Amino acid sequence: MSDHDAQPSAASGASAYDFSGRRAVVTGGSHGIGAAIAVLLRAAGAQVLVLDLDAGPEDVRVDLADRSALEAAVPQVLSRLGSVDVLVNCAGMFVASPVLDLDLAAYDRTLAVNLHAPVILMRSLCGPMSAQGYGRVVNVTSIHARLSEPMSLAYDVSKGGLEAATRTAALELADHGVLVNAVAPGFVATRMSVVDGEDELLGVPFTDVYIGQGRLPLRRAARPEEIAHVVAFLASEQNSYITGQAVTVDGGLSARF
Ligand SMILES: NC(=O)c1ccc[n+]([C@@H]2O[C@H](COP(=O)([O-])OP(=O)(O)OC[C@H]3O[C@@H](n4cnc5c(N)ncnc54)[C@H](O)[C@@H]3O)[C@@H](O)[C@H]2O)c1
Repeated sequence: MSDHDAQPSAASGASAYDFSGRRAVVTGGSHGIGAAIAVLLRAAGAQVLVLDLDAGPEDVRVDLADRSALEAAVPQVLSRLGSVDVLVNCAGMFVASPVLDLDLAAYDRTLAVNLHAPVILMRSLCGPMSAQGYGRVVNVTSIHARLSEPMSLAYDVSKGGLEAATRTAALELADHGVLVNAVAPGFVATRMSVVDGEDELLGVPFTDVYIGQGRLPLRRAARPEEIAHVVAFLASEQNSYITGQAVTVDGGLSARF
């Protein structure tokens, strides 16, 4: 566990939104951005069910790469919550691999966790949302959906695909009161910044180029709570007119040519 994995407190997650009576599913809610989202939604009154590989006793433990396990978890989710008002697909993974020697097992797993699991959960849970005439879906993507980096093919494809799925689902569900959006973070201080034992936020490219030279205009990585607040807005009733969009939360990184 890295220093970036401190559990967010409810105080840091004070919310402007009212989720009283709302039932939310948050994948990847045990760590990082997903944990900050779960804390924030709970502080705002939601009943939150976390789906994660690394699950606590109140959570649903599931490997999102395992399609049959995920499909088997859906009835459990529905029986525990009754129905679902909010789905946040936040679980994700990254494995660095070059195109010419692509690690195909890691490619398959990355697509399964980052793209197929969110699609399966939308397929399963947006039906009940549509039937009740209300729902909010927020898919956590990345600036990698639109900006690529060497060694990131599987991740880039998964996040680009998830933004496409977000738009298509938004179009189909608009008539049923279900709004579907994505939040695309840039650098966030979580354990995902640690790749092959190296924390990219402590490495020379990040400290010299992104911070020192201002390649990243706000000159720091986001805290998970800063992403969670945007997710909470899009997941709330206060969001009544945004659907099919990806909201970038990257400290200005993608504003620069
Ligand atoms: N940290 C960043 O810089 C950054 C930037 C852009 C986007 N993101 C995205 O934000 C989301 C959250 O990432 P994070 O930075 O909080 O990382 P994290 O590693 O802190 O959290 C990821 C969570 O997903 C869970 N998870 C991973 N694989 C799983 C699986 N197979 N089944 C079930 N649960 C699984 C983990 O257990 C963990 O709780 C991801 O989708 C990631 O791609 C992160």
